[in-house]
Amino acid sequence: MKLANRIIKVKPSSTLALVAKEKDLKAQGKDIIGFGAGEPDFDTPEHIKQACIKGLNSGNTKYNPTEGQKRLREIIASRLKSEYNLDYGFENVIVSCGAKHSLFNVILAVCQENDEVIIPSPYWVSYVEMVNLAGAVPVFVDTLASGFKLTPQALTKAITARTRAIFLNYPSNPTGAVMSRNELAAIAQVLVKHPEIMIISDEIYDKLIFDGLKNTSIAQISEAVKKQTVIVNGVSKTYAMTGWRIGWLTAPLDIAKACGK
Ligand SMILES: Cc1ncc(COP(=O)(O)O)c(C=O)c1O
Repeated sequence: MKLANRIIKVKPSSTLALVAKEKDLKAQGKDIIGFGAGEPDFDTPEHIKQACIKGLNSGNTKYNPTEGQKRLREIIASRLKSEYNLDYGFENVIVSCGAKHSLFNVILAVCQENDEVIIPSPYWVSYVEMVNLAGAVPVFVDTLASGFKLTPQALTKAITARTRAIFLNYPSNPTGAVMSRNELAAIAQVLVKHPEIMIISDEIYDKLIFDGLKNTSIAQISEAVKKQTVIVNGVSKTYAMTGWRIGWLTAPLDIAKACGK
């Protein structure tokens, strides 16, 4: 069967290849620490499993609205208020089958063919494949010389008339870098001059953070930057629920509605 060009462009997951190699080496008795898949080293907490069983037993097994259950969307919005002091209604929240699905939905919702999407490097490998699948063009910005953090200078150089979106991923997979509020404010200052650029802030690791640090979301910097930001998160990392496939995005209403479609 002839395959579509768009799928031929997508590379097989290098994360899964690494995991297979790790398993192989472990089976040979080698002492290996895997830096492949982002799999927390604890199990899904018991109260979550029990709540799920209760839900299934009470018949909560039917179709849901595409955007997710209203009660869940309300809880996600209220968490953004209590933890980040960010004001969103449930309408701004779209639940999906994992953060990866949410990220892909945003790219599909905002990118046309040949639009450019900035990806600070090193990056989580899936970003590139999402951009390629959408027919857009990844533009890499090397952050090696700046402690794996994006600088306003490097960002400014990467922006062109075709830039449509940027991925920010702090705390970062794979580097672990965390941007301070001041560092994010400097990035925001550049991006608000380009309101057509969608900031896709992947904050899936916001709770796996060490050294007494606290995550800042770029949406907290100002109302202007919040208007061009989509925050992506999910339960995979925080609650060790990688196999459950639950994630979400929180976005300005037009983007949320588009992703809901
Ligand atoms: C940076 C980053 N974003 C998103 C995801 C995907 O998370 P989910 O399991 O919710 O699809 C991962 C998973 O490894 C990740 O490392």
